[in-house]
Amino acid sequence: MARRELHDRFFKQAKAEGYLARSAYKLLQIQELKRLMRPGDRVLDLGCAPGAWIQVALEVVGPKGRVVGVDLQEVRHAFDPRVHLVQGDAFEIGAEELTGPAGGLFQVVLSDMAPNTSGHGDDARSARLCWRVLELVPDILAPAGNLAMKVLEGADYPNLLKDTKGMFAQVKGYKPKASRDVSREMYIIAHGYVPGKTPRMVP
Ligand SMILES: C[S@@+](CC[C@H](N)C(=O)[O-])C[C@H]1O[C@@H](n2cnc3c(N)ncnc32)[C@H](O)[C@@H]1O
Repeated sequence: MARRELHDRFFKQAKAEGYLARSAYKLLQIQELKRLMRPGDRVLDLGCAPGAWIQVALEVVGPKGRVVGVDLQEVRHAFDPRVHLVQGDAFEIGAEELTGPAGGLFQVVLSDMAPNTSGHGDDARSARLCWRVLELVPDILAPAGNLAMKVLEGADYPNLLKDTKGMFAQVKGYKPKASRDVSREMYIIAHGYVPGKTPRMVP
């Protein structure tokens, strides 16, 4: 099936199945293949609006799980009390605002954050968002926790992958079928956070 048709198929399917956006299928495919989340997990979803990944995460974590969603934009969908939403910029938000005063670490961090595309320097801005995620990880992710983050493949991608490999036991780049072929969108999937390691922080 051509990519365009595939895109339209996922769009229609999302509507029919009650997901807020077709991006739901990317996380469903990631979860099916990579088993990032488990029932009862606390999940952080960075760049969560309009909320389709939150819907998928809730299905996996079940009644005892929790999801914290962060986005620059307001999430309009009304979720149940397992979800805590924070409107703000990932570059400005502090770890405590995410973990809460009790410092509850997450078992999984997801980032589908994407810069506003301008056609110039988008991949570098996307990589900076990922480095911000890696910068937050030591203060928010539990030992042996997992991470999935979106990145536009570009000049920074090899360094980003290298930095992620320095912090996790197992790291791979992955492109879900539900991602459009024309986009350079990839997901870095990392299992088994090893505390004590920090990113090298290129730019
Ligand atoms: C592709 S959308 C996410 C879709 C979402 N995963 C879903 O399934 O509904 C990317 C989101 O990243 C957010 N974003 C971009 N930069 C951000 C930043 N610095 N801090 C927080 N959110 C950001 C955008 O506002 C946008 O809503």
